[in-house]
Amino acid sequence: MDTDAFHQVRPAETKDQLRFLTCGSVDDGKSTLIGRLLHDSKMIYEDQLQALARDSIKHGTTGEDIDFALLVDGLEAEREQGITIDVAYRFFTTPRRSFMVADTPGHEQYTRNMATGASNAQLAIILVDARKGVLVQTKRHSFICSLLGIRHVVLAVNKIDLIDYRKEVFDRIIDDYVAFSSALGFTSIAPIPISARYGDNITEHSGKTEWYRGPCLLDYLESIDIQSETASPPFRFPVQWVNRPNLDFRGYAGTVASGNIGVGDEIVVATSGRNSRIGRIVTHDGDLPIARAGDAVTIVLADEIDVGRGDILARPTERPEVSDQFAAHVIWMNQEAIVPGRSYAFRVGTQTVSSGSITAVKYKIDVNTREHLAATTLGLNEIGFCNIATALPVSFDAYGVNRRTGSFIIIDRYTNLTVGAGMIAFALRRATNIAWQPLSIGKQERSTLKHQKPCIIWFTGLSGAGKSTIANVVDQKLFAASHHTMLLDGDNLRHGLNRDLGFTEADRVENIRRVGEVAKLMVDAGLIVICSFISPYKAEREMVRNLVGDGEFIEVFVDTPIDECARRDPKGLYLKARSGKLKNFTGVDAPYEAPTAPEIHLETARLQPEQLADEVVDTLAKRGFLSLK
Ligand code: ADX
Repeated sequence: MDTDAFHQVRPAETKDQLRFLTCGSVDDGKSTLIGRLLHDSKMIYEDQLQALARDSIKHGTTGEDIDFALLVDGLEAEREQGITIDVAYRFFTTPRRSFMVADTPGHEQYTRNMATGASNAQLAIILVDARKGVLVQTKRHSFICSLLGIRHVVLAVNKIDLIDYRKEVFDRIIDDYVAFSSALGFTSIAPIPISARYGDNITEHSGKTEWYRGPCLLDYLESIDIQSETASPPFRFPVQWVNRPNLDFRGYAGTVASGNIGVGDEIVVATSGRNSRIGRIVTHDGDLPIARAGDAVTIVLADEIDVGRGDILARPTERPEVSDQFAAHVIWMNQEAIVPGRSYAFRVGTQTVSSGSITAVKYKIDVNTREHLAATTLGLNEIGFCNIATALPVSFDAYGVNRRTGSFIIIDRYTNLTVGAGMIAFALRRATNIAWQPLSIGKQERSTLKHQKPCIIWFTGLSGAGKSTIANVVDQKLFAASHHTMLLDGDNLRHGLNRDLGFTEADRVENIRRVGEVAKLMVDAGLIVICSFISPYKAEREMVRNLVGDGEFIEVFVDTPIDECARRDPKGLYLKARSGKLKNFTGVDAPYEAPTAPEIHLETARLQPEQLADEVVDTLAKRGFLSLK
């Protein structure tokens, strides 16, 4: 079954649906257990329910929430890229409850699959082979479940038949499990001796474990109370979309993530701090007096205040955190490791921030031992604790308090791929106390005084491609024509501002970040800023582009074939790099991502620097940068 089913069943979710996941490997009897459960409970496949849910989505009464973001959006993005996260969802119903089971592969390299399955589950069945007891993988699964906010565990001690239904073996496994899991914050652990193969204690009590007085597995799943928890956290309503069918109606559609709210109650928009009251709670079955957790509703406010997609409505006395910096656990899901400082898009709750970065990896966690290990990056399937900064403040809760408003995904801005998922631990206060100081003289005034339109002319290309030479000629020509310019050159800045940086990926990212900030300040000063840096990564060049206004970043690709650069080898670096004496050299053992749509593409083999510089100046003139006022 694919994950669309997961998406579609959600809006029709009944209050007494239990979402659980099974953790264990095939050897532990996981598939047998699921098969047995489905078979013995005489399950009803919920095709009809799904069809219903699909209809309600079509009619737009509900939106997705963060769980979808974490799961469905991420998965869809992955699917488009041809990578599948292997999580199977199954649905079944008994007369007492309906169930959704996430079945995820249990191998270590599939941390992200398990995390995906766990992020929306309320309970985990941790399978243990009675003969083997608590293993490293049992600990790993339990830790990931705990990290993803699961508070209820069934410790299913399987293959009890193979140890002759002996109570003392069962008891010893419980003792082991309880001892190590005490730090994981589970509110309930229910150990059940089972044999998935023979059906012992699955849907009926087994005559072979007379000593076991607890419920059988299905009984337990049908009766465990998980609702009381979702009702307790404060009211949170992430706005999914603004519903404005005509000028007379303006409503905010979404699903109540937690708590409840009544008509007339006071609310606040978390990020702006604006207040209003609940005017109406609209559903397609008529208005409600109260909206509760899980309800898909459209809220109409008493006042016309500014509310947009992604805003969180809360009670004024119970506001979420609002910050542009926070610390969080991150599960990295991308082949390429995290590059601190690189710009990614973040989706926190229903809020999308187009730019943010992991500013520091504090440590990574050994998922088997929970040990904290020193780290500066995270690779595929690794979990770590990181500091994160977003370009705009976002509202959220700690994940431990509210899973819906405390989780986020990290999206690669170019591929749209979900590269990570995270759980917020706390807001970092530092930068939130720094406000913008309003200044009277701005970019406009400064550039008017200089009679020019400021911009960044960004030369990128391999070492020895001719960037600095051409940039220098462009600078001379503009200067001669009375323009106010400044030239920033890689080699030169590395003598001062960036003297602490080398040529690792992280250092190059930081190099360009600093240069970008400096260039932006110079644009604000009204200058035409000429920059010459290898700047091998697309992401950082785009980051600089986004620092300045539309059209103010002119990317010039100095396109010289690497063999030609190596032949020229003005600093003898290619020789050193090719003989292995210089590491991380661009084009040799470090990548260069050529621009795909530069404003100016200079193929240097054809022309001399002088002519190439003219080409740049001509383009600037055509774009209106050089018309002296
Ligand atoms: S960037 O990659 O971070 O943009 P930058 O343009 O600042 O690089 O600096 C590149 C210059 O540093 C090159 O022109 C070259 O002279 C020098 N250099 C020294 N080591 C390396 C290296 N490993 N890779 C590339 N350039 C290097």
